[in-house]
Amino acid sequence: MGAGRRIILGATSREADAFLALVARHGSPLLVFNPATLARQYHLLSEALPGVALYYAVKAHPNEYIVTTLDELGCGFDVASAGEMDMLMGLSIPGHRTIHTHPIKKDREIRDALRFGATTFVVDNPDELAKLAPYRDRIGILLRVSFRSAQATVDLSRKFGCDPDEVAGNITAAEQLGLHIKGLSFHVGSQCTHAGKHIEAIDQCRDLMLAISETSSAPMSTLDIGGGFPADYDLAGIDIGEFCAPIRKALAALPDDWHLLAEPGRYLVAPSVISITTVTGKSERQGVTWYYLDDGIYGSYSGQIFDHAVYPLQVLKTTETRRSVLAGPTCDSIDIIAENIQLPELEIGDLVIGHQMGAYTAATKTRFNSLPDARFVFVESTS
Ligand SMILES: Cc1ncc(COP(=O)(O)O)c(C=O)c1O
Repeated sequence: MGAGRRIILGATSREADAFLALVARHGSPLLVFNPATLARQYHLLSEALPGVALYYAVKAHPNEYIVTTLDELGCGFDVASAGEMDMLMGLSIPGHRTIHTHPIKKDREIRDALRFGATTFVVDNPDELAKLAPYRDRIGILLRVSFRSAQATVDLSRKFGCDPDEVAGNITAAEQLGLHIKGLSFHVGSQCTHAGKHIEAIDQCRDLMLAISETSSAPMSTLDIGGGFPADYDLAGIDIGEFCAPIRKALAALPDDWHLLAEPGRYLVAPSVISITTVTGKSERQGVTWYYLDDGIYGSYSGQIFDHAVYPLQVLKTTETRRSVLAGPTCDSIDIIAENIQLPELEIGDLVIGHQMGAYTAATKTRFNSLPDARFVFVESTS
């Protein structure tokens, strides 16, 4: 993700006061959620993809404040497990506002989803179609197609999705089971650098859907274009309207009456959460200054392992820099957030801020060393 890590030295006095006040009030470490930033991202993506219904991929950050904010904005939800559905149910979000997108499910999960009120399911093979056959009168099915993407940081077509040339076979298998496939879905990979794969996938899905609709009594009319919309880990200023311009063009070539969906996670939520950690110890080791923080790779920074993300970091000082390491709080040597970085000399108690930390961060944290989670708090500022 990007060439290197962005390090911000210094902060405005307003920013610094806000960080310090948060820690004075709530302690450290923190994950600080700004609902206004999430609302801004939702509006920008909605404007960039007019006519596309957005379903937030809950897995990106399954947090009730985030989900509630998106619920109030009118967003739908993409769920992949009973646990995610339980959370939405607890927030009184009805199942009809969700789609279930995990291509592989136990029968128990299908029944749970139906009880919840979800009716759209994703499959990518005939065995999975057979599992849905008993519920044929109550469901709509999307067939997930694989479009491998070398440019995405996380290639989500490696594990799921049938090849485009397997679509016809799956449609036949569905017909034999008395099932109707209402459309196609894809996920070209998370953190795409450009929309090239989205375009290729939309164009191929259009051709496949039109060809199948010609010979079928029940035509396909739903296309789910997945996620992949990027977060700004380089702080370079991503213009999502520009990123999506070729996608809009490809979608404009589809029949007017098709139902279009997307499942964004990262783009919506990444910038709306920052991490605040505190230096709890320091040590000089072979000419390098090591700082030990109260959150790390086993906690909020777990996305550096699982998601390959490199989060921008900020310290409040601007004094002369030296070679430094930022390490997390556990006893494991893998628990290093950043090595070979230049930082001003920090003291115990100083803060380190991680930016763009809303997606695939807390979602993958562990309880290694029985350390407590970063506390999740929210701010009411506009941004
Ligand atoms: C099925 C599905 N939909 C949507 C998403 C969200 O993708 P992104 O965060 O790239 O928008 C994911 C991510 O893993 C996914 O697996």
